[in-house]
Parts: sequence; structure tokens; C-alpha cells
Amino acid sequence: MGRGHANGVIGFLCAALAAVVALSLAPSVLADPEPVAGRAGVHEGVATCAGSTCHSRPVASGLVVRQNELITWQDPHTEAGAHSRAWKVLTQPRAEAIAKRLDIGPAEKAPACLACHADPVAAGQRGARFQISDGVGCEACHGGAGGWIASHYAVGATHAANVERGMIALDDPKTRAARCLDCHFGGSGEHQFVSHRLMAAGHPQISFELDLFTSLQKHHDIDADYSARHKVIAGPVKTWAVGQAMALDRTLTLYGPRHTGGAFPDFVFFDCQSCHRTFSSDDPKWRPVSEPNPGRPIPVGAPPFNDANMIMLSAAAKVAAPALAGRFETESRDFHQALAQNGGVAAAKATALAATSKSLADAFARHDFSRAETLAIFQGLLSGETAKRYTDYTGASQAVMAADTLLNGLVAEGAIDRAQAARVRPDLDRAYSAVRDPNAFHPAEARAALLAVAEKVRGLK
Ligand code: HEC
Ligand code: HEC
Ligand code: HEC
Ligand code: HEC
Repeated sequence: MGRGHANGVIGFLCAALAAVVALSLAPSVLADPEPVAGRAGVHEGVATCAGSTCHSRPVASGLVVRQNELITWQDPHTEAGAHSRAWKVLTQPRAEAIAKRLDIGPAEKAPACLACHADPVAAGQRGARFQISDGVGCEACHGGAGGWIASHYAVGATHAANVERGMIALDDPKTRAARCLDCHFGGSGEHQFVSHRLMAAGHPQISFELDLFTSLQKHHDIDADYSARHKVIAGPVKTWAVGQAMALDRTLTLYGPRHTGGAFPDFVFFDCQSCHRTFSSDDPKWRPVSEPNPGRPIPVGAPPFNDANMIMLSAAAKVAAPALAGRFETESRDFHQALAQNGGVAAAKATALAATSKSLADAFARHDFSRAETLAIFQGLLSGETAKRYTDYTGASQAVMAADTLLNGLVAEGAIDRAQAARVRPDLDRAYSAVRDPNAFHPAEARAALLAVAEKVRGLK
């Protein structure tokens, strides 16, 4: 994966899916208006957004927005089209096998799958053209269009008025993160969670970074008129930082309520490889592979909580929210320590750390990241004390995605030019390869690759 790269961080990211959701392109809403009164919150269906005068122009020639958003959403060849395939995937053998192991009937009808692979709003909220088979349709992200479908393209429409009528303000990084995380980690909906059970049944592992994933599915331009319409322009670095804080908040908030149903918290919160590794105490060649981690003070043999977002946040906080950084650091260590000692105390520590993560999300959302700060975060993340914390797969793969996003931020902020960024690419690609396969992950290799990226950027000036 990576910007402009065909391959995934993680192999499964690019599993080619040629199938496109067959969508009968309905005539435009201009020609066939829906009654609007009392329809606030109703999900009208993707077909309602289609039409060559609306969002399915063959080319991006719209005056205000591209107007070919639907074509991008349906792109059969790229990650940008993944959401249109999300339901279709449930009808395929891999999903059937998962559903069979879970004994939940056909995947394409199971609430346990539809929660994230479609837009399963209640029956009363489905408009005449709503189809579950549209997968993750426009309104799964932008919100039910019943209240604004007729007014949002009219003369005098404003972003604020659209939002008032129920459009979700996805330009705001906190709001966007919250929406994406519902499916790309877990939400409050009963079935919105990729539990360890789901993974044990064959579901792919989830990996998410707000800015990178936004670019991969991007169907909008941030241009003069975008800002003239008073939409928030967050930029890559802020989007990344807010995304990290929101992800940690979400993880810790779900950590309490989401249990396996048995004696243990859901294993999905912990480093997978800490349990899933081969060992044979009879084998003279066998050596323990767990490494000491200065940011995670737990005894050998205790399952380590996935700290990928914590490491990112700690590096961002030191530079952009120093007033919160110390507290965040102490609370993170306390949380890890409590987990290895006492479940009840750990839950309380999780709540405290979640509150600090929320404060960090707010602080980052208000903050303007300067070039110097982006460079400092970049170096801080990939080298020095922080780099010693990449002892497991998820942390290292978040760091690689962060390197990609921050490099892009440095270009956006004019700190380095495109040609210089291109010279860093081979090192970044090496870092991506170091985290391609969780089963062949060697922490030292990943750290060396990340360090090489940091050194290359340092040498650019
Ligand atoms: C309603 C659930 C849902 C929401 C909300 C959602 N996604 Fe997704 N997303 C999915 C599912 C399911 C897939 C996998 C589809 C597939 O591969 O068939 C996916 C795939 C993707 C992919 C392709 C990744 C890959 O590995 O190919 C990107 C990029 C992505 N989402 C970005 C986002 C972003 C950014 C947001 C928020 C603005 C978001 N998603 C919101 C459910 C959702
Ligand atoms: C909490 C949300 C969530 C739930 C619940 C969920 N999934 Fe997923 N699923 C995702 C996301 C997000 C992805 C994409 C992962 C990525 O590429 O980052 C995905 C990917 C997949 C893929 C791989 C798709 C591809 O393009 O290779 C399959 C198959 C799948 N899910 C099947 C299922 C089945 C079957 C169920 C129900 C038992 C289910 N999922 C429940 C969120 C979810
Ligand atoms: C996975 C979530 C997701 C899905 C699905 C999705 N969008 Fe978007 N869309 C976004 C995000 C994020 C943005 C950028 C933030 C913004 O401007 O709202 C965006 C931006 C847009 C914009 C540009 C807004 C502007 O002011 O410039 C349009 C138009 C749009 N989407 C239409 C659609 C249509 C039509 C569909 C369905 C075919 C769709 N979107 C599906 C997340 C999504
Ligand atoms: C605390 C230990 C622990 C952690 C952490 C953990 N697992 Fe597991 N996992 C288990 C156990 C125990 C089983 C059941 C093994 C069995 O059925 O023999 C299992 C089963 C599985 C299976 C099914 C294996 C099979 O051969 O049937 C998969 C796949 C899996 N886990 C994936 C994951 C992923 C992905 C993560 C990280 C997100 C993870 N696990 C984290 C302990 C763990």
C-alpha cells in the first residue's frame, strides 16, 4: 500500500476483487424529486446520488465538487472502490467460510457482518431506493440524505445548513475519525466489532490510519472553493495526529465493555504475535523472542496491550501538546502496569487514559502543525527512544504508515519537494516490506528500515 503504491502494508489490503456492485444508475434526483418533509435521517440509497447531473459524471468536471464521486466509489481496480464491494465480498467463499465457522447463517444476511459491510439502518429509515447490496454506500459515511437530498445542491445551500439537516461533517477530522473507526476498529453498534472470535474464524486483521486511508478512498479536491465553502482543511499531519488520538480513545473505551464473554478481555486488544508464535522448549535453537520495551513495563509472559496508537500519540504530544505529554506518558505506563496486575484497576486506568486521549484529539484539532514540528515528530517517531518501542508488529506497521503520511505532510508544507520525497521512497518501501507479513516480522529489521528513512530525510536539508 502507501500512496501511489499498489501493494498493501499487509498483504490482505490489496486482495484483488474484480467484482463491482452492479448498480442501476437511476435518473438524477433533479428529474425525480423525493418528498422531503419528515425524511430527516432516512437513507435514500446510492442510486439517489447517481445521475450525470449529480455524482456519477464520467469525468471529474463538476464546478463545485468533482461530481464523479460515485465512479471513484465503484472503481473496480483500486482501494478507492473497496466500499462498493463490501457487501459483495460477503457472498464469496472466504466470507462463507467465516460465517460457517461462526454458525451465523449466510454472511450476506448476518447482522454480525452487515454491521460493517453495508449500511444496515432500521427498516423505517430505508428509502425506496435503498439497497443493502450497495455495501458501504454514500450515506454510511455522509449520513442519511433524507433531510438534505433536495436542498444540498440548490442555490444558496451551505455546508453548515447541510450539516444541520443531517449531513455528517466529514471534513472535521474528529468527526471523520469517529465514523471510520466504527467499522475500521469498532463502534457502539451491537455487532460493530472485529472480535478475536471473528479473527479466529478467518476475518482479516484490521489496520487503520486516518490520513492514509482517507487518501486511498479520496473522491474530493481540497481547492479554493472547498475553503470558500467553509469546510475544515486539516492537512495530513493534523489528520494523522487526531486520528491516532481518536483511535486510542476508541480502543480504550471499548476495552471495558468488549469482552470475549469468558474470563478474559477480548484478545483482539493485545499484540497478536505475543500469543501466536511457535515455541518448543525442547528445541535447543529456540530462544524467547519477546524484547524488553521501555514504554511498556510488564513482566515477561504477560500479554502486551497493543500500544501502536500510544507510541504515535506520545511522539506527537511531545511536540504539539507538551502540556499533556507528561500526563499521557505516565498514564500509559500505569495502564500497562495495571493490566499485568489487576483487571479492575486496569479498567479505571483505561478510562483515565481515554480521557487524556480525548484531550489530545481536541488539542491537535486546534493546533496548526508547523514544518519544524512535522519534522520533529517525524524524527522523534522513527529514531531515538521512541524507536526502541517498536518491539511488535502493530506498532511497527503504524510507524511505517505514519512515516508515509508525515512525509506527505512535509511535501504539503513545503519543507521538502516532490523530487526529494521520491528519493526517500526506496527506504520507505523497504520499511513497508519489513511489515508486510506479520508472521515474518523481525523487529530489528523494521527498526533499521525506519531509521534509514529518518536519516535520509535528515540528509535532505
Ligand atoms: C460502514 C462501515 C465502514 C465505514 C463507516 C468506513 N469503512 Fe472503510 N471499509 C469498510 C469495509 C467493510 C472495507 C473492506 C471492503 C472490502 O475489502 O471488500 C473497507 C475498506 C476500506 C478501504 C480499502 C482498504 C483496503 O485494504 O483495500 C479504505 C481505504 C477505507 N475503507 C477507508 C475508509 C475511511 C477513510 C473511512 C471514513 C471516512 C471509512 N473507510 C469508513 C467499512 C467501512
Ligand atoms: C467492525 C466491522 C466489521 C465487521 C463486524 C465485519 N467486518 Fe469484515 N472487514 C471489515 C473491514 C474494515 C475490512 C477491511 C480490512 C482492511 O482491509 O483494512 C474487512 C474485510 C473483510 C474481508 C476481506 C475482504 C477483502 O476484500 O479481501 C472479508 C472476507 C470479511 N471482511 C468478511 C466478514 C464477515 C464474513 C463478517 C461477519 C462474520 C465480517 N467481515 C464482519 C470490517 C468488519
Ligand atoms: C467511506 C466513507 C465515504 C463514502 C462511502 C463516501 N464518501 Fe464522500 N467523502 C468522504 C470523505 C471523508 C470526504 C472528504 C470530507 C468532506 O469534504 O466531507 C468526502 C467528500 C465527498 C464530496 C466532496 C465534498 C466537498 O465539499 O467537496 C462529495 C461530493 C462526496 N463525498 C460524495 C459522495 C458520494 C456521492 C458517495 C457515494 C457514491 C460518497 N461520497 C461515498 C467519505 C465517504
Ligand atoms: C492472549 C493470547 C492471544 C492473543 C493476544 C491473540 N490470540 Fe488468537 N488465539 C488465542 C487462543 C488461545 C486461540 C485458540 C487456539 C486454539 O483453538 O487452539 C486463538 C486462536 C486464533 C486464531 C485461530 C487459529 C486456528 O488455527 O484456528 C486466529 C486466526 C487468531 N487467534 C488470530 C489472532 C489475531 C489476529 C490476534 C491479534 C489481533 C490474536 N489472535 C491475538 C490466543 C490469543
